[in-house]
Amino acid sequence: MNSPPAFSLQDVHFTYRRGIRPALERIALEVPRGAFIGIVGANGAGKSTLSFTFNRIVPGFFRGDFRGTVKVLGADISSAKVADMAATVGMVFQDFEAQIFSTSVHHEVAFVMENLGIPRQRMLPNIAHWLQEMALGGLTDRDPATLSGGQKQRLALASVLAAEPPVLVLDEPTTDLDPVASQELIRCLENLTQTGRTVVLVTHDLETLAKADTVLMMSQGSIIGKGPPGEMLMQVEMLQSHSVRPPQLAQVFASLGIEEYPPDPHTAAKRLADLGFSTQSRQPLPVSPPTGTPILVVEELRFSYRPGDELFQGLNLSIGEGECMALLGPNGSGKTTLLNLISGIRKPHGGSIRLGGQALPQLSPAERAKQVGIVFQNPDHQIFQSNCLEEVSFGLHHIGVPSGKIRARAMAALEVVNLADKAGIDPFTMTKGERKKLALASVLACEPRFVLLDEPTTGLDAREQDALMNLVSHLVAQGHTVVFITHSISLAARYASRVVVMSEGRVILDGHPIEVLSDETSLARVGLIPPPAVQLGRLLGVAVRTPEELLASITRGS
Ligand SMILES: Nc1ncnc2c1ncn2[C@@H]1O[C@H](COP(=O)(O)OP(=O)(O)OP(=O)(O)O)[C@@H](O)[C@H]1O
Ligand SMILES: [Mg+2]
Repeated sequence: MNSPPAFSLQDVHFTYRRGIRPALERIALEVPRGAFIGIVGANGAGKSTLSFTFNRIVPGFFRGDFRGTVKVLGADISSAKVADMAATVGMVFQDFEAQIFSTSVHHEVAFVMENLGIPRQRMLPNIAHWLQEMALGGLTDRDPATLSGGQKQRLALASVLAAEPPVLVLDEPTTDLDPVASQELIRCLENLTQTGRTVVLVTHDLETLAKADTVLMMSQGSIIGKGPPGEMLMQVEMLQSHSVRPPQLAQVFASLGIEEYPPDPHTAAKRLADLGFSTQSRQPLPVSPPTGTPILVVEELRFSYRPGDELFQGLNLSIGEGECMALLGPNGSGKTTLLNLISGIRKPHGGSIRLGGQALPQLSPAERAKQVGIVFQNPDHQIFQSNCLEEVSFGLHHIGVPSGKIRARAMAALEVVNLADKAGIDPFTMTKGERKKLALASVLACEPRFVLLDEPTTGLDAREQDALMNLVSHLVAQGHTVVFITHSISLAARYASRVVVMSEGRVILDGHPIEVLSDETSLARVGLIPPPAVQLGRLLGVAVRTPEELLASITRGS
């Protein structure tokens, strides 16, 4: 007997109640059971809305004009309630923090299973297994509010995976994961499809889709392309024109006119050699640029959240004026905590932090805000006004800007992040990416000398990421100093002038991006992997940071 497909959608249309144009149009889709499907597309293309139709959140929770039929495992779900769908379609939301609400890590995972009526004898082993799988085994009693960003994302994943639904829908589940956690999640999803589960993965990170069965490309509410990754990921120009960043190796091969998809750097290097490509002679390693006068000096910093468990045990770090530093490291290594200490949100237990020559505690809150601005990992922790203009104006009042000047300065900042047309809008009706940009505008408006950005590009598509990082480069060119935390090593490689890698509260690598990226052994020890183009460059004997730099050094013939 043929089993029915996991999903079958016929002629699905949907317009949100206050939507101006349809969020989904003419969607026809059949996903076989046991398939691994990737959905890609620009911000606002309809990826999340499409995944909400799989468990009736659209139109059961988000109301609007809905037409068409959705069948899940053969059953028409038009009269199902959202809650009835949870046992069949497990979902991790893009805004994963919104789905965590228990008081301990263990309870969070148990809670989802209790709601689904899963028997206790199955619950306990499942909880233990999935917390281990998501590397949260040592944190079972912790309050989820005290987890790092990536640990929270792992918890949201564990609680959905532990309930073992036949279908899994994951909306950007790797945004806050470190590279190894992200690879492990994908491996784990592949294993689940081997047992007949169906996996739908919405993502901006195409490197995670190499082993998917099918990649769906969405634009303006429609599915505009569909095929195996080998075919879809090689359509580099099409992807770029839809604000999707192609995998780096696909970009390199497509630019060289090679039409096959290279699965990994080693295969790619061999193929290039077979085809007669070689690289120009090895360039000397760049020397780290001399740093300006130190704007920040951290000496012998000590800090712990819990007695007897010291995160920083005498950390030293100096940052020169005008540097653009990327801070990398595994989940829970202390990156966010360090920025919170530098910006004065948390107090050290020992050592000193000097900002612009002055000890941090000597600065008043208003002086501090003029010196240093921080954009949080989760923008919702810093947005609290009812419209965007008021949100940006708030900080300006706080640092004493005359009231006659506030509106113009706030509007100029909204302009910079491309949100001027949303000045009167309530931030909580906007996307997470837009809220991230709003938080950045609020900081930029105060024109601090030193800007700290905690994972500034999560939730943004390729075009928005580039726009935001170009803005960062512009700030640096104007003399500002920037530190940004990221899990995207390719972003660090492209934009930073210095890369610092942390692990367990210690700096383990510090230098020019090329120097740091070429130390594959030390990076691997803390679970970091150089970007594919950098690895390919190394195999070909050139030290590069980006696919473009690699392409510039490749020639055909000898
Ligand atoms: N408020 C808190 N209370 C107790 N422990 C905390 C708190 N915030 C963070 N921690 C713990 O401190 C360690 C460092 O966390 P931090 O948030 O600085 O990591 P991170 O490097 O930013 O991680 P990620 O990449 O996941 O964002 C982690 O083990 C985390 O669980
Ligand atoms: Mg963090």
